[in-house]
Amino acid sequence: MALPESIISRVEALRATIEQHNNDYYVLDRPTVTDAEYDRLFHELQALEQEHPRLVSSHSPTQRVGGGVLAELKPVVHALPMLSIRTETDISDAGAFKFDSYIRRELGLDEQAPPVEYIAELKFDGLAINLRYEDGRLAQAATRGNGEVGEDVTPNVRTIRHVPLKLRGNAPQVIEIRGEIYMRRSDFDRMNERQQAAGEKTFVNPRNAAAGAIRQLDSGMTAQRPLSFFAYGLGKFAGWRAPDRHSAVLDALEKFGVPVSKDRNVVHGSQGLVAYHRDIGERRDRLPFGIDGVVYKVNSLKLQQQLGFRTREPRWAVAHKYPAQEEMTVILNIDVQVGRTGALTPTARLRPVFVGGVTVTNATLHNEDEVRRKDVWIGDTVIVRRAGDVIPEVVAVVVERRPADARPFAMPANCPECGSAAVRLPDEAVTRCTGGLFCPAQRRQALLHFAGRRAMDIEGLGEKLVEQLVTANIVRTPADLYKLGIASLAELDRMAEKSASNLVAAIEKSKRTTLARFIYALGIRNVGESTAQELARWFGNIGRVASADVHALQQVPDVGPVVAQSIAEFFAEPHNREVVEQLLAAGVSFAETAAREIDTASPAYGKTFVLTGALPRLTRDEAAQKIRDRGGKVSGSVSKKTHFVVAGEDAGSKLVKAQELGVAILDEAGLLKLLEAMTK
Ligand code: IVH
Repeated sequence: MALPESIISRVEALRATIEQHNNDYYVLDRPTVTDAEYDRLFHELQALEQEHPRLVSSHSPTQRVGGGVLAELKPVVHALPMLSIRTETDISDAGAFKFDSYIRRELGLDEQAPPVEYIAELKFDGLAINLRYEDGRLAQAATRGNGEVGEDVTPNVRTIRHVPLKLRGNAPQVIEIRGEIYMRRSDFDRMNERQQAAGEKTFVNPRNAAAGAIRQLDSGMTAQRPLSFFAYGLGKFAGWRAPDRHSAVLDALEKFGVPVSKDRNVVHGSQGLVAYHRDIGERRDRLPFGIDGVVYKVNSLKLQQQLGFRTREPRWAVAHKYPAQEEMTVILNIDVQVGRTGALTPTARLRPVFVGGVTVTNATLHNEDEVRRKDVWIGDTVIVRRAGDVIPEVVAVVVERRPADARPFAMPANCPECGSAAVRLPDEAVTRCTGGLFCPAQRRQALLHFAGRRAMDIEGLGEKLVEQLVTANIVRTPADLYKLGIASLAELDRMAEKSASNLVAAIEKSKRTTLARFIYALGIRNVGESTAQELARWFGNIGRVASADVHALQQVPDVGPVVAQSIAEFFAEPHNREVVEQLLAAGVSFAETAAREIDTASPAYGKTFVLTGALPRLTRDEAAQKIRDRGGKVSGSVSKKTHFVVAGEDAGSKLVKAQELGVAILDEAGLLKLLEAMTK
């Protein structure tokens, strides 16, 4: 019996709509429907296909669920070998200069010749894949293998939503698209959290997780791993007039509905390469996925052909790396450090190792649970990571290298600094010293925080000096700093009269500050710089902050019940009020905070913004500051009262909520345009 035409056309319409949404989401990075709406369409299609099995086709968007277990992965001989890239070992700018002069020499260009055109791309840190499309349908997916022969992983790759099952537009008869299967950091973290909750093994890094997921015999397993894909090149093709530049090839792939990273640039000469390397180096830690460096390619395909290959590597491409962010070393000991709020932090003392551009000797282990979870013992060989300015971290233990005399770590029952009891509340991860400001460690940290650059900014009051002042019992509270005289300071070790008078001058200078800095400097738990700014703006003077109750505090933007509670508790403590009074009596005074003129005609004035996802250039703090400077408010959650959601890469549930509520959505460029709108 023939199927009714109406059902066939409904199925086709659903497939087309779902594919359009997939393209908007995975390729253009610009979803236009909510998850709920997408799911509704998807379930309708699934139901129709179940009811009419004859309608099922292997390229339907429903056919991604995986399942079916293979005995082995079959070998695939690549139609064109999958090459590797030469790596430039010089990670400085010189690496880019060397590549450019090599290319110019090979092409026989003299100094007068114009700069060579290159395309600069990210070097994704995952697993290379060859996707073969025949008549626009995904026909085969193969790993790189040894470059000549790879493995057939088609059922697994079909489960990855970033990989189109069907190309859009006028697809060539045959086209092999090459690229990288990778995992986003946030997906990796969430997956590991799930694994852990289910009592399953966690993965060491996104790269290993992605590679393991692709080389599964059971595609149902692959389907459960959050994999992503970016194309970066071509294999064999037929029935297609390929463009003459690599950049145009990538543009064409994008039009076929294949994800290509936006972070690709056509640049000219070594200067262009250096600029790209620096720009990405600076943004590296804010990318939603890990990279292994950048890749430079000669853009003209004709010149690529002219340059040719050297064994397995093309002469026209090079990988330019950054300083390694992960290295192996040994845990010499695990100490416990006491923080400003009494938190006891287990800290690994490491055999010095050069990582992330500096020599690292300590790494935080966060808390007791973290030590258990990672199963870190004293004597273990570990992988240490230092990315950007982030505090070095122990990523994982190399268990095979655990020596016989390794010892597990135990949290002490008493504070190692002051001997007070260390307690861990039932629903907290942190163990705390109960000594309060009796504990010299807490006192030292409180003073260092108070004097910090972003707080009272007392130049020259560093760790060594604070330690001496606290040990000698000359300074007990921040207010004591303002009683210091040159004579008492000069008695301290290594303190000449000159440095003593410099310090006294710096302390004197710090008296003139802003209310926001002062509030931040007090070190109230859960009150960071931006909350301090909001409090200052809202209340206008310290007396009003100190006497506000929990209810009044919660009226302040960004202040929720937990923060309000911390602030109220801080000022309920007579000792803290006394210190504040002493500081004011010593002459600490505030420049007018509210005096800055805010342009009330700015389209941002009085509007509420929510930031979500990673913006390409601005950090979240920078974006928030810019919004506040224009009289806007920044809130943490989306509601009907939100005026704008600023969405960056990897924006999640907040973006969806904004779409559901019909809140205006901006990208970074849109935000900047709005903030810079001329109003005068
Ligand atoms: S081009 C002819 N471009 O790096 C060169 N490769 O050693 C063929 N990779 O395993 C590769 N990002 O999977 C190219 N933007 C990019 C890349 C990239 C990552 C990987 C690739 C291969 C390895 C090459």
